Amino acid sequence: MAVDYKELGFVNTEEMFKKAMEGKYAVPAYNFNNMEQLQAIVNACGKSGSPVILQVSKGARSYANETLLRYLGQGAVAMARESGFNIPIALHLDHGDTYETCVSCIDGGFSSVMIDGSHHPFEKNIEETKKVVEYAHERGVTVEGELGVLAGIEDDVEAAKSIYTQPEEVIEFVDKTGVDSLAISIGTSHGAFKFTPEQCTKNDQGVLVPPPLRFDILEEIEKQIPGFVIVLHGSSSVVPEYVKMINSNGGDLKAAVGIPEEQLRKAAKSAVCKINIDSDGRLVMTGVIRKTLAEKPGEFDPRKYLGPAREALVEMMIHKNETVLGSAGRY
Ligand code: G3H
Ligand code: 13P
Ligand code: ZN
Repeated sequence: MAVDYKELGFVNTEEMFKKAMEGKYAVPAYNFNNMEQLQAIVNACGKSGSPVILQVSKGARSYANETLLRYLGQGAVAMARESGFNIPIALHLDHGDTYETCVSCIDGGFSSVMIDGSHHPFEKNIEETKKVVEYAHERGVTVEGELGVLAGIEDDVEAAKSIYTQPEEVIEFVDKTGVDSLAISIGTSHGAFKFTPEQCTKNDQGVLVPPPLRFDILEEIEKQIPGFVIVLHGSSSVVPEYVKMINSNGGDLKAAVGIPEEQLRKAAKSAVCKINIDSDGRLVMTGVIRKTLAEKPGEFDPRKYLGPAREALVEMMIHKNETVLGSAGRY
């Protein structure tokens, strides 16, 4: 039997995006796969008073079991309310690959879905996206589509290079599909290795500086569809502190580079109302777990290393909400 997201305590993204557009900030969309990540997201967004989108990928659904994930999400709402956090919480499918995956999530209590048809030819992308929008909107669920291909790996979809969104395509896509928000490609990419060292320059300290995002394309898109909600994927900053923590505790992440915080801050002040962050959370958890186990080799109680990792995640996300996305205090 289908579950209504409203009964689970979730909201769709309509109101949060309206406020984000007016207030010139972006709502964080944090991915989770397990209980500790989810606890950290709720506590960080609750403490900083930020609306939040709990993001579940197809990979997360199969890793954690899709039914359990939904109950975890429902538990997160209950935990937030019990803690006195009155923030709006959406449960969102990240990179939905097919109509069927989206329907399964909508029927399972998700309040928002992404149908990622960006790897399809334009017409096919429109057709797939429109079908999802029709099913979703009948049930009050909001839909994110994507135009343009991000460099790197988007779930199962491999793209050899970044194909920027073409501004001249966005009006037709938005009109014909009826989507509520549009993910675009302006130079971000998924994972911890967003740019090769050859694509970067070096600053005075020898730190790799990536090429700037294509704000010119973003501006063109905004001119074509004024006031329409834009989404940025692949927006982790690959926080150097945690890359260093991983590498100095037995890890091996060479030349990991992300999107500088100032650029994300600039994007958040534009029509970009949703910013996706997954890799930074992975790096924080891995860094703290590695460090804790290196310092205490006799430790074997998972709570003793997952606990500190969870605390560090809270700190990282509060920092993002307060100083990068600008969503703190905006619930
Ligand atoms: O954009 C992709 C997200 O980071 C999810 O990654 O498919 O490994 O869960 P995943
Ligand atoms: P990062 O890999 O940069 O965290 O991006 C995550 C993302 O876009 C999830 O959809
Ligand atoms: Zn993504």
